[in-house]
Amino acid sequence: MKPLDLFPVVVLISGNGSNLQAIIDAINANSLPITIKAVISNNPNAQGLRRAQQAGIPSIILEKAGFDNHAQYDQALIKQIASFSPNLIILAGFMHVLGKHFLAAFENKIVNIHPSLLPLYPGLNTHQQALDDGVFEHGCSIHFVNEHVDAGPLIAQAVIKVKNDDTVDTLKARVHQAEHFLYPTVLKWFSTARITIEQDIVQLDEVTLPKNGLKFNLTN
Ligand code: GRF
Repeated sequence: MKPLDLFPVVVLISGNGSNLQAIIDAINANSLPITIKAVISNNPNAQGLRRAQQAGIPSIILEKAGFDNHAQYDQALIKQIASFSPNLIILAGFMHVLGKHFLAAFENKIVNIHPSLLPLYPGLNTHQQALDDGVFEHGCSIHFVNEHVDAGPLIAQAVIKVKNDDTVDTLKARVHQAEHFLYPTVLKWFSTARITIEQDIVQLDEVTLPKNGLKFNLTN
């Protein structure tokens, strides 16, 4: 008999998919009770598609090129995702700004990981900006997705130390490591119904989280 689907999710990617891999690894290690129903990529060459295939997860390519405009693409994406009835939509390096119809269709059901300590450095080139500013700490954030790019309610952050000799590449590599810890950790909270959100207030076990989410200090 087919096992029951635990907490169904859909993962959206555009590239390497190392976060997807960290999630798959946590599931396979029996430490994350969720089921990835599908991986959807807007980039046919995404390495993450191969990771999904290797893990036996249905993978779908939905390119923007085939659609007249942003709204039509989002509608197709909504239809595709809705067919899997996910409890959560996980953005893991998905390079596409989701429009208002998409956000309305899946209100409070979309999470994203961003490579900075938000609200610092929304958008691209976060590691370069951190180095240019000479900050001592950098890291990653997981947040609910709303109409403001990289600015939805924060759930958690992992903080790393910036070293004197860091380059964009070394910093990026350590932020990625932090991401691979943080995403499975936060997703487990969702899968065990520990996270709630109401009117942009995020709670973990019914305790309201700080404005920047729960902070994990990985600086040692
Ligand atoms: C990560 O740095 C994530 O924070 C950002 O996109 C990158 C995706 O990396 N949103 P990967 O494809 O999971 O390796």
